[in-house]
Amino acid sequence: SKRDDIRNVAIIAHVDHGKTTLVDGMLKQSGIFRQNQKVEERVLDSNALERERGITILAKNTAITYNGIKINIVDTPGHADFGGEVERVLKMVDGVLLLVDAFEGPMPQTRFVLKKALALDLPAIVVINKIDRPDARVKQVEDEVLELFIELGADDSQIDFPVVYASAKDGIAKYSMDEPSDNLKPLFDTIVNHIPAPAGDPEAPVQVLITTLDYDDYVGRIAIGRVFRGTIVSGKEYAICKKDGSISMTKVSNLYEFMGLKREEAREATIGDIVAVTGIQDIDIGETIADAENPEPVPYVNIDEPTLSMIFSVNNSPFAGQEGQYVTSRHLRERLFKEAKSNVSLRVEETDSPDSFKVSGRGELHLSVLIETMRREGYEFQVSRPMVIIKEVNGKKMEPMESVVIDIPEEYMGVVMEKMGARRGQLTNMENMGNGALRLEFEIPTRGLLGYRSEFMTDTKGEGILNAVFSGYTPYKGEIPTRSRGALVAFESGESNTYGLYNAQDRGTLFIGPGVRVYEGMIVGENSRPGDLDINVCKKKHVTNLRSSTADEALRLTPPREMTLEKCLEFIKDDELVEVTPKNIRMRKTILS
Ligand code: GTP
Repeated sequence: SKRDDIRNVAIIAHVDHGKTTLVDGMLKQSGIFRQNQKVEERVLDSNALERERGITILAKNTAITYNGIKINIVDTPGHADFGGEVERVLKMVDGVLLLVDAFEGPMPQTRFVLKKALALDLPAIVVINKIDRPDARVKQVEDEVLELFIELGADDSQIDFPVVYASAKDGIAKYSMDEPSDNLKPLFDTIVNHIPAPAGDPEAPVQVLITTLDYDDYVGRIAIGRVFRGTIVSGKEYAICKKDGSISMTKVSNLYEFMGLKREEAREATIGDIVAVTGIQDIDIGETIADAENPEPVPYVNIDEPTLSMIFSVNNSPFAGQEGQYVTSRHLRERLFKEAKSNVSLRVEETDSPDSFKVSGRGELHLSVLIETMRREGYEFQVSRPMVIIKEVNGKKMEPMESVVIDIPEEYMGVVMEKMGARRGQLTNMENMGNGALRLEFEIPTRGLLGYRSEFMTDTKGEGILNAVFSGYTPYKGEIPTRSRGALVAFESGESNTYGLYNAQDRGTLFIGPGVRVYEGMIVGENSRPGDLDINVCKKKHVTNLRSSTADEALRLTPPREMTLEKCLEFIKDDELVEVTPKNIRMRKTILS
C-alpha cells in the first residue's frame, strides 16, 4: 500500500546555496511558527560550530505539513568532506531537491551527491535559488544542471526534471521566470506531485534502517531511521540486526516523529515514516530494527572509507591545563570512541602508546571540525600532522584523490596554477565566469592538497574559494616534491594533440593550446620515470623572452596560441638559453577524463 499522506525528500545543495534559508521559509509558510513567534536564528544549523562556520555538518530532519501531507525534509551535509553521511541520508527519502545558486551553478558537492542520488534511482526536482541576485545567470545555470544530469548518466525520466525558480530569501518560488509569485506554493506543489509517496506493506515484519544517531543525556542513544516495512510500536520487543550478522533483542522505549523542528511522541510508526527510537543503547548506523520473530536486515549502506589520519595525544607539556581542561588518556579515549559511534566516517584506533589515539576521517575539514568541537568543549590535547591513508588494492598502492574547484579573481591564476601544479594538481577545466572571475578545476592527490587551504587564502588575499571533494583512488606515484625548482614543463593533451609550456616558478607564464585541459605543472627532476621524455631547466631569461608577463596575458593566450610537440621542442632547442638535457622538463601524456 501507499502513504499518500507522506513525502520524504532530501535537499542537496552546495554550501551557501541557500538550503537553510529555503527550509526556514518552508517552515514559516507551512504555519509551523505561531503568528507572533519570531524566528530568532536560522533554525536548521543547531550546533554552535555549524552556526559560526555557517555550514551544516550533520544531517537534520524537519517536517512540515502542506494540504494535509507531511513532507519530511532531510538536510544533507553541505560540505564535501562528509560523503558517507550523504549516502545514508539518501536511503531515507524517495526523491531529492537539488538546490543550485543562480550565479554559481552546480558545484562539486552538488555533482557528488547528485550522482549518488541518481544511482539510487531517486527522482530530482531542480530548484534554482537566488534568482533575485543581480548577477544571476538563470538560463545558463539551468543548462549547466542539465549537462550535469547527462554527464552523470541520468536516465530519461530523471533528466526530465521539473525546475522551480526561487528566491529563498524572499520566500518565493515559481514555475517560470516571468510569472509573479509571493510564496513558495509552487515548490510545495512540485514536491507533492513529483516525489513518489512511500510504498510498502504495513503488515509485513517490520524493518527500520537506522541512518542517524543522536544522543540525549536523559534518554541516551536515539536511533533515527525510516520504516521500510511493517509497523513499529513503542514498548514492544524487537530484534536488532547488527552489521556483524549477529542479532540482539531489545525493547523499544519510545517513538518520536518529526514535526517542524521538534519531535513528537508517537505510539507507532509505519511504512515511510521517519522515526526516532529511544531505549536501544547498542545500535549503530546501518543496522536494522527488525521484527522479533522474523528478523531481516535492510542491506547495509556502505560508508566511505577515511582518507586521512591524525594522532590525537594527551598534552603532556608543562603548560597543559592552563587554558583548557587537563585531559587524561581515559577522557580522551572516551570522548573519541563516543564520537566514532555517531560520526560515521570517523575511525578511532588505539596505538602503542596509551596516551595516543589514531583518528581517521574524510579529509582535513572533517578532522578539523572534530578538533575544534573538542577544544570548545574544553579538551586539551595535541594532534599530529595529517597523514594520507594509502590503500592497497590487488597488491598495488593507491592513494585518495580530490576534485577541486577554485573560484578566484583572474589576477591570482598564476599563483594558484603554480601551487596546485607543484602539488601534483592537474587542471581539468578552466572557465571564465565573467566580471574578472575565473573558475579552475583540478584533480589532485589528497596528499598534495594538505596544508594548501591556508596558503591559498593568503595567496588570494582571502578572495578565493576552494572546494574539494574526494573523487576516488589513483595509483600511488611516490613522494610529492615539496619545492618546485622552476623549470619549463611541457604538457600534452592526449585528445587534441596540442602541447603547452608552463613555467612553475615564474608565475603567470603559460602557453596552452586549444583543447589542453590537463595540466602538469610539477617539476619532475627527481621523480621521472623511465620512458618519460625529460628536458632540462629553462633559464629565467628564456622565460622572460617568451612568456606572457601577467596572468592576464596568459589568459588571453588561451586558446589562441597553439603548439605542436615538434614546435614546442623546436622552440626550446632553438632558443640558446635553454639547455636541453633529459632532466627537468617532462613530456607527459595526460589522460582526459
Ligand atoms: P550551509 O548550511 O552551509 O549548507 O549553507 P546553506 O545552503 O544552508 O545556505 P544559507 O541558507 O545559509 O544561505 C547562504 C547565504 O545565501 C546567506 O547569506 C543567505 O542570506 C543567502 N541567500 C539564501 N537564499 C538567498 C536568495 O534567494 N537570494 C539571495 N540573494 N541570497 C540568498
